[in-house]
Amino acid sequence: MNEREVFQRLLLIVEEYYAGRQSGKFLDYFDPDELRQLLQLDHHPEGCDWDRLFDWTEKYLRYAVKTNHPSFVNRMWSGASLPAVVGEIITAISNTSACTFETAPVSTLLEKYMIDQMLEIVGFEDGQGQMTTGSSNANMIAMMCARNLHDPAAKDAGLFGCRRLLAFVSADAHYSMDRAANILGIGLEQLIKVPVNDRGQMDVTVLEKKLVDCCESGSHPFFVAATAGTTVRGAFDPVEPLLVLRARFGFWLHVDGAWGGATVLSERLRPQFLPGLEKADSFTMDFHKMLGSSLICNVLLLNNRRDALARTLSAGDGSYLFRETEDELLDFGPASLQCGRRVDSLKWFLDWKFHGRKGLAARVESFLDLCGYAEECVGRHPELEMMAPRASFNVCFRYVRDEASANDFNLALRTRLYQRGISMVGCAYIEERLVLRLLITNVSMGREDIDRYFAELVAAGREMDSEWRAGAK
Ligand SMILES: Cc1ncc(COP(=O)(O)O)c(C=O)c1O
Repeated sequence: MNEREVFQRLLLIVEEYYAGRQSGKFLDYFDPDELRQLLQLDHHPEGCDWDRLFDWTEKYLRYAVKTNHPSFVNRMWSGASLPAVVGEIITAISNTSACTFETAPVSTLLEKYMIDQMLEIVGFEDGQGQMTTGSSNANMIAMMCARNLHDPAAKDAGLFGCRRLLAFVSADAHYSMDRAANILGIGLEQLIKVPVNDRGQMDVTVLEKKLVDCCESGSHPFFVAATAGTTVRGAFDPVEPLLVLRARFGFWLHVDGAWGGATVLSERLRPQFLPGLEKADSFTMDFHKMLGSSLICNVLLLNNRRDALARTLSAGDGSYLFRETEDELLDFGPASLQCGRRVDSLKWFLDWKFHGRKGLAARVESFLDLCGYAEECVGRHPELEMMAPRASFNVCFRYVRDEASANDFNLALRTRLYQRGISMVGCAYIEERLVLRLLITNVSMGREDIDRYFAELVAAGREMDSEWRAGAK
C-alpha cells in the first residue's frame, strides 16, 4: 500500500466509524480475557504490512465505547465535535511541540489568541494563561503559584522550616486537589476539607471559622478553591462571599470550573452560576467537557499577574531550547510543567471559530434545559428517586430499593446496562449512598433520547428486581 492508499483507507475507516457513531449498541462488551483473544495482540511480532495494521485499527473501533452515542451519559465529555477532530488530525500529521515559537509558530499564536479571548470574557485584567494537560494539573499549577507567592522561598529552599501552609477546598472538591497537595509538598493534612451545605456548596461560615483557627494557630491560609460545578452533585461554591474572606485573610482564590466553568460563555447563565468570578485570582475550565472539544483541551487563566506562571514554574537550564525573543513571553515552554507540549490549540481555535461563543453558550444552555427534563423524568417514574437536589447539570438518582440493598442493586443495575450495551452512566457516593450520575454532554441528544434512556433503565431495573426477589441474584 502506498502513502496515498494508506490515507484513502484511513479516511474510509474514519468516515464509516463517524457515520455509525450513534447507531447500534454503544458497546459490544467482552470481558478482558475475551477481548485480549479477539485483539490477537501477540500476532506479527516481526512486523507486518498495512493491511494487518488496518485490521487492528478496525478492531480498535469495533470494540471501543462509542462515546458519541446518546446512551453514553457516563462522563463529563462525549464524542468530540467535528472541527476538533479535524484539528486533531492536522495536529497529528504535523507533529510538533508547542513549547517554543520556533517549533510551533502558528500554534503559539493560536494559543495566545484564544487565551486573550478567554481573559476578556472572564474579565481578568492584565492576566495570563496557558493551556494545560487538564484541570487536574491546572488546579495544581494554581496552587503552586499561590504557594510560591505566599512563600517566595519555597522555590529554592523547599518547604523545610517554613510556616505551615493550609489550603481549603470543599468536601466535594475534585480529588486533583488532594493530588496537588501531595505533589507540592503541602501534605494532605494541610488540605482542609470544608463541609458542604445540603445543596453541595462549600459552607462559607464554617470556612471562616477554620480560617480564624488557622491564623490563631500560627499557620498560613494561602489557598482557597471554589468549585464551579462539583464532580458529583454539580454544585457551585459561592465566589462572592469568598472574595470577602480573601480581603480579610489574603489567600489566593482559585475557581475550579473544569465542569461548570463553561457557563461563563452564556450571558444568561453566568450571573446565575458565576457571580464574582472576574475578581478571583485564577480560573480553569475544560473545553473538552461540556463544550465538546476532544480530550484534552483546557485553559488556566490568572488574574492581574502577567508573570506569575513563568516566575513559579521556570527552573533549570532551558537554554538549549528557549531563545530570547523581542516578546520574552512568546514561548510557552518556560512557564509550563513539561518540556514537550502537545498542540491543543488548533482544535480549540477551530471549534471556537466554527461555533462561535454564542453557539457554545447555546449548547450549554440547552444541556441545562435537558437536565431539567431528565429530572422531570425521574419524578415521573415511581421506580426512581432523586438522590440530591439538582444544583445544575448533574442528575443524581437511583432505582428505589430498601436502604440495605440499594447500593448493591444500583451498582449491579449499572453493570448490567453496561455489559449489555444498553447504556453507560456514572456512579458515585453521596453520604455513602450510591447514586447514578447522569450527565448530558452530547449535542445531538434530545428529549426522546432521555425518555428512551430512562425507559430502558427502568425495564432492566424491573427485570433485575424480580430476579432479586426470586433469590436468583
Ligand atoms: C470539578 C473538577 N475539577 C477537576 C477535574 C479534573 O479535570 P481533568 O479531567 O481535565 O483533569 C474534574 C474532572 O472531572 C472535575 O469534575
